[in-house]
Amino acid sequence: MADALARPAPALPLGAVQERLAGLAGFSESDVLRNRLLRAAPILSRLPLDRASIDHPDWAALLDAVTVQETRMFRAGAQIASFRAEVLPALAPRGTLSLISAGCATGEEAWTLAILAAGRGGPWQVEGLDLCRPALEAANAARYRLGPPDALREVPEADRAWLDIADGWFEPVAALRPQVRFRRGNLLDACLPDAAADAILCRNVLIYMTEEGRLGVLKRLVAALRPGGALLLGPTDRPPRGIGLVPWSRDLIGIWRREATDA
Ligand SMILES: C[S@@+](CC[C@H](N)C(=O)[O-])C[C@H]1O[C@@H](n2cnc3c(N)ncnc32)[C@H](O)[C@@H]1O
Repeated sequence: MADALARPAPALPLGAVQERLAGLAGFSESDVLRNRLLRAAPILSRLPLDRASIDHPDWAALLDAVTVQETRMFRAGAQIASFRAEVLPALAPRGTLSLISAGCATGEEAWTLAILAAGRGGPWQVEGLDLCRPALEAANAARYRLGPPDALREVPEADRAWLDIADGWFEPVAALRPQVRFRRGNLLDACLPDAAADAILCRNVLIYMTEEGRLGVLKRLVAALRPGGALLLGPTDRPPRGIGLVPWSRDLIGIWRREATDA
């Protein structure tokens, strides 16, 4: 007994788990990831390393524990304003306008897209995709704290009419809800239909990924856009040449257009 107490706890397989997470979801090694993995030690100790899959319950629990969910309504408001003013009017949907928040976290980006689409008029739908189950639950519930910090600090005054705001909470109005859905999916897998989306937002997702993961996700997103469709990335995300994307215009940072034919 004394022997067992004196024995050090078995080392956690941190390196092997990080390697599997890179292959499974594209995550790169970082201090944030390492700290989150250490906090998830009970999951790590039972994780089947040879069965990495988003559908395995222990791997799903680990993904829930290590993903970063920071987001807010109208985040990076200048880019959203450019999208509304210059990109949305130029999209020519075949029927229903289809917008995607890829890596939607708790859903605020998808609800932002819903407000833009509803203001544009015509039929529309928004889909939010993420790996993290608790985040998707929050996205579906769509009931958010006002803060502090002020969760609506980037929302233009006129757009607040699309939100029910009361008692320290806000919710998208009921009229937006039927056209918005959330789904669990891995952006590294074939989780989106080909050439069906008019615009995809994938912001603050690729920064957490390895080069290989970023390239894999970008290829999937380009394939999911219809030719002429728009891809919005974070300001530091630089898609490589030859992937089928060109800058939307010289002035717009982080907004790309799928070329008419693959390069
Ligand atoms: C920091 S949040 C960004 C949320 C929102 N796009 C924004 O910019 O406000 C990143 C989200 O991407 C999700 N994510 C990361 N890798 C993913 C993958 N391979 N497939 C699906 N979702 C992923 C995470 O679970 C997390 O919710």
